[in-house]
Amino acid sequence: MKKLVFATNNLHKLQEIKEILIEQFEVVSLKEMNFFDEIEEPYETLHKNALQKARVVHQFCGLDVFSDDTGLEVDALNGAPGVYSARYAGVNCSFQDNVKKLLKALNSEENRKAKFRTVIALILNNKEYTFDGVVEGEITKEQSGSEGFGYDPIFKPEGFETTFAEMTSEAKNKISHRGRAVQKLATFLKTKN
Ligand code: IMP
Repeated sequence: MKKLVFATNNLHKLQEIKEILIEQFEVVSLKEMNFFDEIEEPYETLHKNALQKARVVHQFCGLDVFSDDTGLEVDALNGAPGVYSARYAGVNCSFQDNVKKLLKALNSEENRKAKFRTVIALILNNKEYTFDGVVEGEITKEQSGSEGFGYDPIFKPEGFETTFAEMTSEAKNKISHRGRAVQKLATFLKTKN
């Protein structure tokens, strides 16, 4: 079966994507490719950072590869933390640090609208493609739930009464930013196979 490298070592994401592409590709992680370098994400857009990651790994192994980059965009903060979502509260900060900083930043704010956006960059047969996935929602006033990761305890997707952290991963994946981008990737790969 054809190998497709996923430029990640996040086992949660890897498992999710393996399940979706199981009939078409053997999806392998960076670790399985013996790639251990830290890939920088120096750009100001998710598109550029995702492409950068895919290019670095493609240059390393020459195989077809895809990467993903995600940001949480809060309306009242003019789209912040956006591309800086991972290190919103500083370098080496924890998910909890980020969540607390965001709740504080929105402390007296009534407009709690936000969206998660994922960009997937694919290099297939030496050509580059990108796929976007977005989910709209709002930032809650308090944390709720213990599933998932990152900002999940304070993100309530539109049309739902629970945060992502109160959903099963299966339910979250059906409507999430990453789930939507991955579905587009999978549909595209089917047309190419
Ligand atoms: P990454 O590009 O997937 O590493 O995401 C960057 C940051 O966005 C992560 O460190 C998390 O803080 C946050 N993030 C990404 N995806 C999710 C999600 O599905 N739920 C909550 N937070 C997320």
